[in-house]
Amino acid sequence: MKRAFIIASVLAFALGTSAQRLSSPDGRLTMEFSVDASGRPTYSLSYSDKMVVAPSHLGYQLKPEDPSKMTDFEWKTPAAAQDAVAQRADLLTGFSILGTEVSSCDEVWTPVWGEESSIRNHYNELLVHLGQAKNDRCMDIRFRLFDDGLGFRYEFPDQKNLTYFTIKEEVSEFTMTGDHTAWWIAGDYDTQEYEWQTTRLSQIDEQMPKAIAPNSSQTPAGPASVQTSLQMKSDDGLYINLHEAACINYATMHLDYDESRRCFTSHLTPSASGDKGDLQTPTTSPWRTIIVSDKATDILASRMTLNLNEPSKITDTSWIHPTKYIGVWWEMITGKSTWCYTDAVASVKLGVTDYEKVEPNGRHGATTEHVKEYIDFAAEHGFSEVLVEGWNVGWEDWFGHQKDYVFDFVTPYPDFNLKYLNDYAHSKGVRLMMHHETSASIRNYERHLEQAYTLMNEYGYDAVKQGYVGDICPRGEHHYSQWLNNHYLYTIEEAAKHHIMVNAHEATRPTGICRTWPNWVGNESARGTEYESFGGNPVNHTTILPFTRLIGGPMDYTPGIFVMDLSKWVPGNTSKVRSTLARQLALYVTLYSPLQMAADIIEHYKEKMDAFQFIKDVPCDWDKSLYLEAEPGEYVVIARKAKGADEWYIGCSAAECGHTSTIHLDFLTPGKTYTATIYADAKGTAWDNNPEGYVITTQKVTSKSVLKKLVAGAGGGFAISIK
Ligand code: NOJ
Ligand code: CA
Repeated sequence: MKRAFIIASVLAFALGTSAQRLSSPDGRLTMEFSVDASGRPTYSLSYSDKMVVAPSHLGYQLKPEDPSKMTDFEWKTPAAAQDAVAQRADLLTGFSILGTEVSSCDEVWTPVWGEESSIRNHYNELLVHLGQAKNDRCMDIRFRLFDDGLGFRYEFPDQKNLTYFTIKEEVSEFTMTGDHTAWWIAGDYDTQEYEWQTTRLSQIDEQMPKAIAPNSSQTPAGPASVQTSLQMKSDDGLYINLHEAACINYATMHLDYDESRRCFTSHLTPSASGDKGDLQTPTTSPWRTIIVSDKATDILASRMTLNLNEPSKITDTSWIHPTKYIGVWWEMITGKSTWCYTDAVASVKLGVTDYEKVEPNGRHGATTEHVKEYIDFAAEHGFSEVLVEGWNVGWEDWFGHQKDYVFDFVTPYPDFNLKYLNDYAHSKGVRLMMHHETSASIRNYERHLEQAYTLMNEYGYDAVKQGYVGDICPRGEHHYSQWLNNHYLYTIEEAAKHHIMVNAHEATRPTGICRTWPNWVGNESARGTEYESFGGNPVNHTTILPFTRLIGGPMDYTPGIFVMDLSKWVPGNTSKVRSTLARQLALYVTLYSPLQMAADIIEHYKEKMDAFQFIKDVPCDWDKSLYLEAEPGEYVVIARKAKGADEWYIGCSAAECGHTSTIHLDFLTPGKTYTATIYADAKGTAWDNNPEGYVITTQKVTSKSVLKKLVAGAGGGFAISIK
């Protein structure tokens, strides 16, 4: 690893309000910082000659302190105390620049897994030391300007007049310079399982009621509040993405849009008390990120979110591995089988009921026999793990009751032989993947965590899929609050001690923390394939995800559905998967994840082994990724080189208008001949017309070859393996 860190200029005191300028390494981006007449920190960002963020304020509203907790000095007279209360109520105005530090970094680091096997971290940095004389307090703002965007965060040094403090609101502004097109979902304290909206910024307000469809976990954040990662495009062709990195010990941020100022302002998720977070100095905020380019593909290629996170805290990472898995799952999501063992809901109470004595419903998915079929199939076709949901007692009455005690995560149903199945799986070179649905009962999960992970070690599980369905218990907390964000990370850190990889569903959206904790291999945090069984995802959904949800880290989207009309095999489920089969294959390439599920039931794969071959072949760890063509909401075409092998995989996912590609294979090793296998939509195939129609062709190719007229139908795609 090469590393160069140059302090270009050191502390310069008493700069007052003078403007500071920072350029990106390639000189294309410029950030300006100053404090205005009232002492408000202010920044702006330009890309070449275009303004990306017009002058915008930075700072905090703090919760006023309780005078009874003040020092004798402050309490000398009631007036002085009142004064102190008032003055302490904000970190917004009255600042002057005490000094600045400028530095640069150019290093290359090696992720444990990823879209590429080495990542360049290259930026210029400006650290601004601010003093608020009226309160004798200080606050720093650190700016990092990369070639692909700006990151900044607040830093609160250890100091007498700012020790413990409660945030009323973070006031970070992002003032836009036009009525951009935006791809957004409604701001919400509890879920990101929304459909993406495509509107002008000025239409966010009027579109909001339509953007919020009833769902039990929803707590909309406000009439013009949206979530990050927010993707925008200006009329003059700039792609601008707002998100955050390293959200640790802090609440998840939303953005409130004010049309009169064309300005987004940060809006943190409250805790049960309504406060936005409790901090103790010295500490820092997460990074606020603005990725910008005149090419949509550059947004997908950006590594800024990862670069703004700390290096791995796990030294021995040998036990962390990319994983392709199948599972007893889709059949429950579609309603064909059940997570629960019995329908005798009222009679079942965890810890009291003897499940041997209740009547099984005959539709339980996680039976020993059925899981064995999955293990056999995984072993035969090279899948390393088998997820089994509904293996543990408690599913009869698990949802929507705000119960503190539902699952214990260690007691199997009577028809699931824990020891036998794990031994059987291991004898075939396969592992079972654990499932912990917490039903959002956080204390209950924390109470059982150690024994649950210990049980996993005992039986040889090395990965767990977590779930946080429902309203958070304790009541009033939200999925995205500081306390919950700390909880998720706690489960990751404890898992690392047990050498367990974690994939969390319904947890807060990721912010690149997987660099620091590479055992955090997956998150859901958006609508995944499950919604294809609840009415269907919008056709453009998977062409927006790479620009939004995936900016923070990989998604366990669970692609690979081969039968699109669910009524063909699930009585009563009229949902249709809004995708062609070829696009389902392409998603393994276009939606990056080190954890990839082949989500359909094995019978459907057995019927189409030729198409299934692509899922068997496609890796989930890469040396290199090339973002060939992309436009949010329309199409995404990506080529990736398998890690450690001279094999390439290409995927195209297209929305309603379909897409036609011409791909130059000049990235192949010159002088070598490869076999390209193309899995394409059959002629006329679209998500709503013969969606399972596909054609497989093979041809010899070299680095001089050009694949012409690769056609993806509406909601379609193509997938190519080049070996
Ligand atoms: C929602 C998750 O997203 C899904 O994958 C899981 O099967 C259910 N919760 C049950 O835990
Ligand atoms: Ca979910």
